[in-house]
Amino acid sequence: MIPIKSSIDHEYASADLRAALQAIADRFIDRLYYGAERALLEASSIIYPPDITPEREAFACRVRFGSPLHTPALDFADLPAVLASLSAAVMNRLRAGSGAFILNFQRYRRGNVNIPPHFDGEYFHWRQAANGSLYVEHGLRPRYCALLCLENRAPDSATTLIDDNDVRLNFHLRAGDLFIFDNQYYMHCVEPFVWSAAENCQWVRYMIGWRSITMDCKEIKQGIETPISPDYADRLISGRRTPAWSEAPF
Ligand SMILES: [Fe+2]
Repeated sequence: MIPIKSSIDHEYASADLRAALQAIADRFIDRLYYGAERALLEASSIIYPPDITPEREAFACRVRFGSPLHTPALDFADLPAVLASLSAAVMNRLRAGSGAFILNFQRYRRGNVNIPPHFDGEYFHWRQAANGSLYVEHGLRPRYCALLCLENRAPDSATTLIDDNDVRLNFHLRAGDLFIFDNQYYMHCVEPFVWSAAENCQWVRYMIGWRSITMDCKEIKQGIETPISPDYADRLISGRRTPAWSEAPF
């Protein structure tokens, strides 16, 4: 079922599965960003520029289901098995069981992270205003985003959705929550919240995200949003010569 604007499935993943997924995600990040494959993956735009600060690390890659696409992406069969079956289930929930999607990982060491309002997608050209807000001059805005919270030792921290009237909805995600929201209706942000990792805990908050970059997307060009077909999205992404960004890169 697709929500109209947002939904949360509580206890979507068991504690055992979450622990396994965190270890699998850490190894997958090592493979993509800290191994011999990185240069090739980066050159072909299959992985996006990472965002690494003392507080938080974010990584993202493109993956495709078996369909023939021009968009450079990892093949679905390249994903670790548990991550692949979870991704298939989540993408089916988003009604996007074909085409290409962005798989991203965000792991937090400590709080006081301020992620300004933005939408997720492909940013071809963007700039940041003096007040910190993001302006995407040319990009692609997917409809639905899914976010699975694997760990959150600061449950009062919030992911905030913001509508056009600047009404803000705070979602306090707990470990095991699968959060789905309409990324074309809402911007989102993470407001500052101070917390620190416990001694025996490397990451205080750990999230995996998914969104299709071919199904139900809009092209944004100089402030105008136009719905586009999966074929057009595929050609738009694959025709880029410079790497795109997938997230607010700050
Ligand atoms: Fe985001």
